Amino acid sequence: MTASVHQELWQSLGAATQSRSPFTTMQLATIGMDGAPRVRTVVLRQADEVRSTVSFVTDLRSPKIAEIRREPRVSLVGYDPQAGIQVRLEGRAVILDQPEDKKSIWDRCRPHTLALFQTPDAPGTEIASPRAVSGTVEHCDGTEQAFRNFCVVTVELQRLEWLDLSPEGHQRCFFRQTAGSWVGTWIAP
Ligand SMILES: Cc1cc2nc3c(=O)[nH]c(=O)nc-3n(C[C@H](O)[C@H](O)[C@H](O)COP(=O)(O)O)c2cc1C
Repeated sequence: MTASVHQELWQSLGAATQSRSPFTTMQLATIGMDGAPRVRTVVLRQADEVRSTVSFVTDLRSPKIAEIRREPRVSLVGYDPQAGIQVRLEGRAVILDQPEDKKSIWDRCRPHTLALFQTPDAPGTEIASPRAVSGTVEHCDGTEQAFRNFCVVTVELQRLEWLDLSPEGHQRCFFRQTAGSWVGTWIAP
């Protein structure tokens, strides 16, 4: 029975990477450099059931990268308000910054996403005024720099949790990796 929940969970994550759904954006939690929790929204780019990973893209210069380098254990949470379903994911984040590892996801990102990586200011840097961000990566140099700033973060999942609070649901279960396979357990919602 937990197997069907596991299947539905991965289906939901996979669908979220193909077209917009409530799980297309998830909240990513890291441990800040001062030890306090930090959370922000990211777009789910890949969900690989076989490898038990999810991936998002970010700027190598962003504070979350330093945080992940120091403490790779991260959590993600997503919520589908219509279905009443919350998905929580926990695992170890791996930063893919080598060209051969990030190129295929770079190629699938839209120009306006890639343009974000071209900004000269590292994310979080204080600036005098908001700057207009162009909709495309215009110059060859800009593209190269944007590609250098771009990275993929893949989270190797170790724990998954599904909470269904719909009137007909009211089910909660978690899955943990044991000897390479997922074991599901029902828990009180
Ligand atoms: C809808 C939405 C989607 C976002 N997607 C991403 C994303 O995929 N990657 C990313 O680095 N930041 C994304 N952001 C911005 C982050 O939430 C965050 O503000 C930024 O990455 C800086 O985070 P940091 O200072 O913790 O590194 C998104 C924000 C919103 C509102």
